[in-house]
Amino acid sequence: QAPVITIDGPSGAGKGTVSQLVAEKLGWHLLDSGALYRLLALAASHHGIESDDVEALKVLAEHLDIQFKQSEDSKVEIVLEGEVVTQAIRTEIVGNQASKLAAIADVREGLLLRQRAFVQEPGLVADGRDMGTVVFPEASIKVFLTATPEERAQRRLLQLEQKGDVVDFDALVKTIKERDERDANRAVAPLVPATGALEIDSTELSIEQVVDIILSEAAK
Ligand code: CDP
Repeated sequence: QAPVITIDGPSGAGKGTVSQLVAEKLGWHLLDSGALYRLLALAASHHGIESDDVEALKVLAEHLDIQFKQSEDSKVEIVLEGEVVTQAIRTEIVGNQASKLAAIADVREGLLLRQRAFVQEPGLVADGRDMGTVVFPEASIKVFLTATPEERAQRRLLQLEQKGDVVDFDALVKTIKERDERDANRAVAPLVPATGALEIDSTELSIEQVVDIILSEAAK
């Protein structure tokens, strides 16, 4: 079995960028598990499947027709049922729906084997919330990446401002704290560090510094 590095943590800790860079530097595959939940949410809405139809959602999760295509400029194109949805899955609406579906045990179960199928030579970097705790408990390196709610709000604010959105910083901090609370205490796959996880607080670190810590761990 090819080696796996798991990178879990709350949103805004820099997981996505860090995972992508670590995968690139090592020449390994990348699993953006959050994208799977987002794809499921979008597919469910296309097919008119309601969030209480657990059986249909599970079947949809097991058979989701998706592709992660490497395009020429090293960007990844995400395809759902033949349609490019790289941007479409990044909206707040899809994100909220994804987070709702992610709280359903059968949905998580339906995506489990699909996620494990991403393990291929020479290795996999898996980005998510339960990569080290549930999906890849045997991973060689497990990282739990955090940052203070204020720092994560600040990063989010910058992203939103770049999109031309105006948001209130304090409101953002409050939302982030509430979501952390909910994620850590939910019944299925609560967001907690995996046993033996290397905890990295990225509040005062650059993306490069975080990537270097993980790469030096991988080189041991
Ligand atoms: O970027 P953001 O943190 O909003 O989320 P994401 O990584 O794109 O994932 C979307 C949603 O899926 C998250 O809000 C989580 O609730 C859920 N998720 C999960 O439960 N388990 C994972 N391994 C990945 C995502």
